Amino acid sequence: MIKISYDINIYRKQLESILKEEDVVVELGCHVGNTSELIAKKIVNGKLIALDNSPEAIPKMNNLVNKYKNIEFISGDVRLHDVLEEVVKKIKKCDVLSVDLGGGYHPDTTFKVYFIWASALKPEITLIRNRGLIDFVRSSQTEEKIESEKGWLESCGDEGIPPQIKEFKLWSSKLNKKE
Ligand SMILES: C[S@@+](CC[C@H](N)C(=O)[O-])C[C@H]1O[C@@H](n2cnc3c(N)ncnc32)[C@H](O)[C@@H]1O
Repeated sequence: MIKISYDINIYRKQLESILKEEDVVVELGCHVGNTSELIAKKIVNGKLIALDNSPEAIPKMNNLVNKYKNIEFISGDVRLHDVLEEVVKKIKKCDVLSVDLGGGYHPDTTFKVYFIWASALKPEITLIRNRGLIDFVRSSQTEEKIESEKGWLESCGDEGIPPQIKEFKLWSSKLNKKE
């Protein structure tokens, strides 16, 4: 199952309704841990790995790690291969992948991060918070039925961790057309 939201309250409600006590959760873009705390309280016998690349996140997340034994925080850029590899090596399974790089953040980067992490972790359920992806899904039509039951795209096969994520270097904001 893949759930997309934009409103942070809907994102949090969706998470709270699907989480189970034993779940292993990976949260991309935890910021200062407001949603991480909700997750940690629900998964009392599980584990949360929360990641963010903002310096602001570090002291707040360190406090949260001291408060909840089931949280691990990694300060890093989730677009990087090494960061994904570190998480893959730490966990045997992922029940829930939760992606919030900012609700209005570039849908292309958000999708890329989702696709690569989900292909590697094979989560049962993925939640993504992004306005542009909702717009795309709601504005699209197709005659073909290709869909996945889990939190990753089964149609894309068993690709595992991609060798290196080079695409991110190929795009430049200098190419943006001004209206
Ligand atoms: C809207 S905030 C997340 C809010 C949080 N999920 C919550 O519910 O309170 C988005 C976060 O994504 C993080 N972020 C954006 N791009 C990132 C990247 N490439 N790697 C890691 N974190 C990233 C930002 O630093 C920011 O803290």
